[in-house]
Amino acid sequence: MTESPGANGELLDVEQAVRDRYSAASQQVEPQLCCAVSYNADLLKVLPQELIDRDYGCGDPSRYVQRGETVLDLGSGGGKICYIASQVVGPEGAVHGVDMNDEMLSLARTHQADISQRIGWDNVEFHKGRIQDLGLDLEQLEARLQQQPVATAAAWLQSQSTAAELRRKQPMIASDSIDVVISNCVLNLVSPEDRRQMFAEIFRVLKRGGRAVISDIVSDEPVPDALRQNAELWSGCISGAFLERELLQAFEEAGFYGVEIVERQAEPWMVVEGIEFRSMSVRAFKGKQGPCDDHHQAVIYKGPWKRVTDDDGHVLERGAPMAVCDKTFQIYSRPPYAGQIIPVPPSRPIDPAAALPFDCRTGELRDPQQTKAGKQEPQPGDKKQNAQKPGGLNLLPGDCCGPQDGCC
Ligand SMILES: C[S@@+](CC[C@H](N)C(=O)[O-])C[C@H]1O[C@@H](n2cnc3c(N)ncnc32)[C@H](O)[C@@H]1O
Repeated sequence: MTESPGANGELLDVEQAVRDRYSAASQQVEPQLCCAVSYNADLLKVLPQELIDRDYGCGDPSRYVQRGETVLDLGSGGGKICYIASQVVGPEGAVHGVDMNDEMLSLARTHQADISQRIGWDNVEFHKGRIQDLGLDLEQLEARLQQQPVATAAAWLQSQSTAAELRRKQPMIASDSIDVVISNCVLNLVSPEDRRQMFAEIFRVLKRGGRAVISDIVSDEPVPDALRQNAELWSGCISGAFLERELLQAFEEAGFYGVEIVERQAEPWMVVEGIEFRSMSVRAFKGKQGPCDDHHQAVIYKGPWKRVTDDDGHVLERGAPMAVCDKTFQIYSRPPYAGQIIPVPPSRPIDPAAALPFDCRTGELRDPQQTKAGKQEPQPGDKKQNAQKPGGLNLLPGDCCGPQDGCC
């Protein structure tokens, strides 16, 4: 569903408005479609002027990409961010660009051979698809529909089955295959009805431990319906802007952790009816789901806040050795948390096969006997120390402990 009802009942076809606008913008430069962004000038040298001119971005998520990674750029447009990322990830990495617009895809692909020759490798692939449906390769669907044109209701129903089969058997972007999903000024163009699915798709395609870095336009106040019905303002990245805090909430609701604003424009890019629209970049991680076993570890939150809460509801008190499970311990030992906590390992390593499920709900301090750094001999009663506390969770090793359980 891609339509949004207006106050008097008529529908704005968001997707068609966006398709028309960016088909035109691929041919004729539209300067008002982008905010000023300072990209790494060295990485722009391989790009022809035509692509630099057709920059419709509002941030630079490629700054958060690392060598060797597999990157997915949502709404890749003329391909500028993909070609920048290609140089950053190097020949051992890979970059996928997804865009639903034929003219934009054609613009990005036209220069591919020349650009990759200048870069020295060709690790970019552009796909035709909708970012809220990353499983469906629209070029593959079109090829199948040429053999079975849709002129009857029965044929239309058959085309739905064909699409479902393609998603299942030949997904455009496979599940758990991407290190970093990036996007530059695109999520706001997607219809509100499709946004939950879009975040679910970003989550699906990321590997465990992977991250999303999204630059987009946000508003400081809710955008009224009258503005939301304006096709020009919608396709111009204004009416569909996320309310600032709702962009972060959307990641949270999709199951991400460590959701963080990494950049926020101080001055608004546009002010419409008193509402400020500006660019913001948000980073979020995948991987907090799964079993949560007790390895006798603790973490000490360094401060400066007195108390903090993570996306699983763990509360860390400044300076206190809080008991955490191994999964949380590992998560806190990596970005974005690593610099903020002191990880305290157990006195003696716990055999993962013997580890017991951990009840994260208790928010207890770790028993110092379990983390003393002085060398200790294994004790005969070790297994008892790892036994489940009365009133704790009745989980078996390997049981799933997800956010819906409220346990980790
Ligand atoms: C504002 S431009 C940004 C292009 C590019 N990221 C850049 O930095 O120049 C938005 C792009 O997203 C594409 N787009 C918009 N909605 C989309 C959707 N639902 N699925 C796939 N592509 C979409 C448009 O076709 C257009 O190329």
